[in-house]
Amino acid sequence: MSTRESLQEVLKDKIGDALFVVVSNREPYIHRWSEGKLVVDKPASGLVTAMDPMLRTSNGIWVAHGSGNADRRVVDKKSRVMVPPGEDLYTLKRVWLTKEEERGYYYGFSNSTLWPLCHVAFARPTFDTMEWETYKRVNQIFADAVLEEIGDRQAFIWIQDYHLALLPAMLKEKRPDLLVAQFWHIPWPNPEIFRICPWNKEILEGMLGNDLIGFHIKMHCENFINTVDQSMEVRVDRERSAIFHHGGVGTKVLDFPISVDKEMIGKDAEKDYSYNEVIQDAKRSLPAKCKYIAVGVDRVDYTKGIPERLRAVDRFLEKYPHMVRNFVYLQMGALSRIRIGLYKSLNDEINQLVDEINWKYSTDDWTPIVFLRRNLTYPEVLAFYKMANVCIVSSLHDGMNLVAKEFVASRSDEDGVLLLSKFTGAARELDEHSVIFNPYDIEGFADAIHEAVSMPKPKRRRRMRRLREIVEENNIYRWGENFVSELAKLA
Ligand code: G6P
Repeated sequence: MSTRESLQEVLKDKIGDALFVVVSNREPYIHRWSEGKLVVDKPASGLVTAMDPMLRTSNGIWVAHGSGNADRRVVDKKSRVMVPPGEDLYTLKRVWLTKEEERGYYYGFSNSTLWPLCHVAFARPTFDTMEWETYKRVNQIFADAVLEEIGDRQAFIWIQDYHLALLPAMLKEKRPDLLVAQFWHIPWPNPEIFRICPWNKEILEGMLGNDLIGFHIKMHCENFINTVDQSMEVRVDRERSAIFHHGGVGTKVLDFPISVDKEMIGKDAEKDYSYNEVIQDAKRSLPAKCKYIAVGVDRVDYTKGIPERLRAVDRFLEKYPHMVRNFVYLQMGALSRIRIGLYKSLNDEINQLVDEINWKYSTDDWTPIVFLRRNLTYPEVLAFYKMANVCIVSSLHDGMNLVAKEFVASRSDEDGVLLLSKFTGAARELDEHSVIFNPYDIEGFADAIHEAVSMPKPKRRRRMRRLREIVEENNIYRWGENFVSELAKLA
């Protein structure tokens, strides 16, 4: 099994004295003011969940957008601060953006163009020239920040996600000697979808500045290779999963299914969180006789299938009336990207659905759906996982989905059932031992909830044990080791 220590060894061996630099839009720790006090938030982000343990181990630098209203207060002259707060294990270098830049690059091109373009969830991407121009400018701001930070030192630059598609080529243009890689945390669509983007070639050229590109699953690698093959003058070596361009320079494209730190989550989950106010409140809202608790933990995003889940709960209660008053669904919904119209209307739709379903079924001492609209802390999320008989992950399309793996990692009692959408990357690894369903098929979804809550204990245990072995074997450290080892081969 890979561990923190074995990853440390691999990093020492493969990277040596070179600087280890991770670049992403979202920062792992956000400083903000709350009632006059300085507080630190950990954002709801699969990327942060996965990369924070990597950085803690590597003593590297994480370059990211400083988005908190107290972020400037705690940094040094070079916009750097040591994190995690109190532990000081690695450097976070913040990049500052104006509101205009944030609007065009983050809300605009990243999350209104690339996000819906890469996720097949029937949300139409927007194509706005000004936003595209801002996206280019902000990628250059990140490039300048990285180059300033590394000076003339050797470095291994590991870029994260779709906000920074142009950064690889920008870095390589100035420093062709750098080793540059990117992990794309979201799906890659098929070529027919991607080519509707008016700037598809520039995006691909930017990404081909990488020595290595990683996706969660093979299908996304194939989609990417086919997209490049159909729109650019390149030579594709499918055997080696490599693309050759610009006078023979190559980019390898490989799959690395991301994961979590199973051991750490398991240990943390064993602690007692019953004192926590949010947990106490939630428990108070459960009827005394409630036998079954299902939970969902999501950012409120249209790719997560939250309205579909609520409709399935409605159908489940209709179809299995003996579950009425015996079942509660607890939804944790962290508000996300709320300045974008689609996210606003999703919120309204969810509020309306929760209201309608609760009105339809609730009695004096029972409501079927409890919706907590906030970003819970890590201990709170663990406490909810532990209370659950069933965890529902119903994404319409998802690169991986780390909630599924976190839930499994937290269940050291070897109980609980994972109800998992077949359209998540996680379903490729966890399908045999979870209850798999299609979130678009509300009838089948309702039956899947029923199957999950009625599963007998020996079967639950057998399945959860097996799921835990899979997550233990393919943990976040193994993911990091595999990625770094592949990159080192290209040095
Ligand atoms: C997905 C993306 C991440 C992003 C996260 C949260 O997991 O792949 O890059 O950080 O969503 O979204 P946000 O826009 O809040 O960073």
